[in-house]
Amino acid sequence: MIGSNSALNIQAALAQVSDYWSPQVVGQVNNQYIKVAKLKGELIWHAHADDDEMFMVVYGTLKIQFEDGDVLLQPGEFFVVPKQVRHNPVAEQECGIVLIETVTTQHTGDEQTSRTVPIAKQLGRHTAAAD
Ligand code: NI
Repeated sequence: MIGSNSALNIQAALAQVSDYWSPQVVGQVNNQYIKVAKLKGELIWHAHADDDEMFMVVYGTLKIQFEDGDVLLQPGEFFVVPKQVRHNPVAEQECGIVLIETVTTQHTGDEQTSRTVPIAKQLGRHTAAAD
């Protein structure tokens, strides 16, 4: 999709996502990736040492838990999680989001677990190691 010479429809891109908590890169602006993801349930608590990340809700409701409280995002709303701040995204019902993240941002930051989706998989590149 990157580099294609046509408009990208966010709703259509989300419709192609089949797995929860598996961000897919749909574009790039300089050193930032534009991603779409479907969320349901919760991810894990983590922080990103050097990178802010933006969450924007397309449909559903996203709660981002922080150690000092929660932020609730409705469709059309976005929030930038500052670097080094521990957070945990939670979606009680299915939610579709756009993420803007630096190309080097690790999915689950400082916490590498079986839930962590490597960037190659986010780019749609199949590697044995990514499974
Ligand atoms: Ni994060």
